Amino acid sequence: MRVIIDTDTAGDDCFSMLLALAYPGVSVEAITICGGNIAFEQQIENALYTLEVAGKGGKVPVYAGCQRPMMRKPVDAEYVFGKDGMSDANYPRAHQRAETTHAVQALIDIVMANPGEITILAQAPLTNIAAAVVQEPRFAAAVKHLWIMGGTDNSLGNVTPAAEFNFYVDPEAAQIVMNAGFACTLSTWTLSVQDSVLYADELAALDAIGTPLAKFFTQVNKASVEFSLARYGQGDSLHPDSLTCALMLDESLILAAGDCVVDVETQGRLTRGYSSVSSPRLPAQEEADPDLGKADAPNARVIRRADRAGFLAML
Ligand code: BDR
Ligand code: CA
Repeated sequence: MRVIIDTDTAGDDCFSMLLALAYPGVSVEAITICGGNIAFEQQIENALYTLEVAGKGGKVPVYAGCQRPMMRKPVDAEYVFGKDGMSDANYPRAHQRAETTHAVQALIDIVMANPGEITILAQAPLTNIAAAVVQEPRFAAAVKHLWIMGGTDNSLGNVTPAAEFNFYVDPEAAQIVMNAGFACTLSTWTLSVQDSVLYADELAALDAIGTPLAKFFTQVNKASVEFSLARYGQGDSLHPDSLTCALMLDESLILAAGDCVVDVETQGRLTRGYSSVSSPRLPAQEEADPDLGKADAPNARVIRRADRAGFLAML
């Protein structure tokens, strides 16, 4: 599998990168950075540092992409991941530096040179991917498969009741991407709350492995565990990006999924970034309410259940 990871590198994003970098038979061809979780330059540093931790320093190019959403002011999540995105570990600067080519151009160049070959793991706001769609109309069809961590499945979001962070930050980009014709799988916040949760004893067991990678896992996730405790009264650790990556690496971890019609709300006052997820309507339903228009064809496979124990084992 040949993969590009598009990321707003903080906390769980970094461990997701490590999973892909360590998985047998996977070639990570590039890391592209999109504005999101924390200060943009720090996201680049975190990606470069994570490559070093994985023993891949200098071997995988990192490209800096869109620094802010298409039409909105940037919104970050420093309050979840710490100022440096690594629970304030203040890791040293890596030797490798980012490439000079813009990430959107790199995405287009790599995909168009290898049509049908490249899988993209999108674990950030979708600004880079949407910009690639706008710049190169053949882009979506040339991507082998797009895995998105984003949106909700008709359940509570993590930023507002209606919306998950990646779709909330850049709803216009999410709308462009969901309507671009990608072969696409959506791994939502709803799925993550259900099946990416790790409990205190499991986190302790991972930490007790004691290797540098295990310590890295504990460190980068520490701030988000503290955030969960402060906000929800439960110190559970959620791993939306890592779960999405794990499902991409081993689809046998997908226990239930449905082909759905997914669109994104960009107009609502309370519903910015809401992902509308529905099963395709039947002809009888179209007849019953013609005002709703013709039912669209499914545009995404939405994962409904994942194998949590299998995910933990992979970690
Ligand atoms: C998503 O938002 C980010 O904060 C995480 O890295 C993840 O991609 C979860 O809503
Ligand atoms: Ca992310």
